[in-house]
Amino acid sequence: MTQDPRFFTHDWRMTIPGPGTIKFVLSPITPASLSSFVTIYNEPATPEEHARLVASSIKRRVEVKTTGKLLVAMLYMATDVHRMEPLGHGAIARVTPDGTVPSVGNIGIKLLPAARGCGAGTAFLRALLRLSCDVVVDQVEIATMHHNTAMRAVAKKVGLNETLEVKYSSGGEGEIIADVIYFNIDREAYRNVEMELLFGDEIIWD
Ligand SMILES: CC(C)(COP(=O)(O)OP(=O)(O)OC[C@H]1O[C@@H](n2cnc3c(N)ncnc32)[C@H](O)[C@@H]1OP(=O)(O)O)[C@@H](O)C(=O)NCCC(=O)NCCS
Repeated sequence: MTQDPRFFTHDWRMTIPGPGTIKFVLSPITPASLSSFVTIYNEPATPEEHARLVASSIKRRVEVKTTGKLLVAMLYMATDVHRMEPLGHGAIARVTPDGTVPSVGNIGIKLLPAARGCGAGTAFLRALLRLSCDVVVDQVEIATMHHNTAMRAVAKKVGLNETLEVKYSSGGEGEIIADVIYFNIDREAYRNVEMELLFGDEIIWD
């Protein structure tokens, strides 16, 4: 699998058909681990929280850079790239400890409530699956709960096959964090999704 490192070194913008034109950009939030991703994921989904997360994430980006764990992309989704009002965020986060073979990246999406139910989630998942082709992990998966009918419907719509398997936090001892898993997704099948991709300047990581 050929990966393009510019996804993590340069600004870029991905435009993908959806309800209107949806643009995705690499945001400053690049958490290096699932725990930091979960922290973000569980934040209340309000525009104010998004703004706060972007501000607080700049420190995280530095941390990611210095530890060399830049395996995660956080996308913001916007209908109007000039105003960049977020509709939601998503990420591909490495969930396996360093050195684990195979390494696994987990895809997650969260749309603001007002953005749900009009096709944006489907477009977003396609964008993340396309991006996952350029993330250096051995496997990519999605984990959700059986009662999350919206996520399961979106996954089905893009052609993913679910497996009913319970996943616990803390390596098997903790609470149930998922009971529907999309294992070892065939990422290459999404490399050619319909989209426009534009790379910009190199990002100054300071
Ligand atoms: C899950 C989520 C990303 C789905 O995105 P979305 O934009 O609402 O979904 P879409 O509008 O693209 O819908 C895609 C399909 O799912 C169906 N769907 C959407 N919401 C649904 C629901 N609540 N129940 C059943 N089906 C649903 C739609 O009908 C559509 O199918 P259709 O085109 O055949 O009608 C979004 O609802 C969300 O952010 N939820 C909160 C966070 C979350 O649960 N994230 C996933 C955690 S693993």
